[in-house]
Amino acid sequence: MTSIFQGRSLLAEKDFTKEELEYLINFSLHLKDLKKRGIPHHYLEGKNIALLFEKNSTRTRSAFTTAAIDLGAHPEFLGKDDIQLGKKESVEDTGKVLGSMFDGIEFRGFSQKVVEDLAKYSGVPVWNGLTDEWHPTQMIADFMTVKENFGKLEGITLTYVGDGRNNMANSLLVTGSMLGVNIHIVAPDSLQPTKEVQDLAEGYAKKTGSKNMITSNVDEGVKGSDVLYTDVWVSMGEEDKFDERVKMLQPYQINMDMVKKTGNDDMIIMHCLPAFHDTETEYGKKIYDEFGIKEMEITDEAFRSKHARQFEEAENRMHSIKAIMAATLGNLFIPHA
Ligand code: CP
Ligand code: NVA
Repeated sequence: MTSIFQGRSLLAEKDFTKEELEYLINFSLHLKDLKKRGIPHHYLEGKNIALLFEKNSTRTRSAFTTAAIDLGAHPEFLGKDDIQLGKKESVEDTGKVLGSMFDGIEFRGFSQKVVEDLAKYSGVPVWNGLTDEWHPTQMIADFMTVKENFGKLEGITLTYVGDGRNNMANSLLVTGSMLGVNIHIVAPDSLQPTKEVQDLAEGYAKKTGSKNMITSNVDEGVKGSDVLYTDVWVSMGEEDKFDERVKMLQPYQINMDMVKKTGNDDMIIMHCLPAFHDTETEYGKKIYDEFGIKEMEITDEAFRSKHARQFEEAENRMHSIKAIMAATLGNLFIPHA
């Protein structure tokens, strides 16, 4: 055994321990340093990586592609209209075929079961590039960004405002609890995490001492936060929900008033992106025409403020995905986390 990570998949955060997540965060910081210094790190020379995307992506696709190339591997994009997955060919058969040709597989799509079955049948490491339930590769980049900014993770309070039951809210709540970061989920009652996700997080929080809060009260939830985090009000696949979400979520928008309510001038703002902070997009224009609002989950002022870190966070997707692929596929010497 060369690496404790070798041959493993990242399907959900709970697949790894606290120490293993910390290792991946630190390894990401190291790989970022190597990249900035121009030091080669071809840990995946000669490997083939399949990139399966049922849903659209800018960051995840670009990060996997550039990370694979920097590692000396060959990435191959297989979009939803390019292959037979689920339409003419089962996940089991697709997994067996891809596993016989590729050394690792990234999957972005709807169902968590599909990504799990791909791992089961392909026999190669599978990395979850987002499902309806979880966004684990995003977590390594996000907590890497928190660590870069504050020099530590334990004791930091990260408050997520908005749609509190989507993949991002689930992943932040569980991962933060694993890492000893206090997670507040501030969302209307009907958009809070399921009991199952809350219980999973609470189990970790008991061990790490992280203090979580799930509330619909904005003032109470954001007070004392080091990080304000938000995501789109309507996730991919639920585009019929704009009407209800715009009505429900406006009090949960990140704006400069909410920033002040944290009472912390050193706080940072994070967003996994893409973001609706102006009317420079088709959706942004449509929402303005229908509801008369120019900004959704974050105001343009907050998005461009001195607190904003979303573009550093986006860049970190590449360094962290590189760490995940190298650790699980690179035959590295990592005897323990
Ligand atoms: N944050 C994120 O996953 O971005 P993409 O949807 O562009 O990949
Ligand atoms: N919750 C969003 C995250 C995008 C990165 C979605 O699933 O569309």
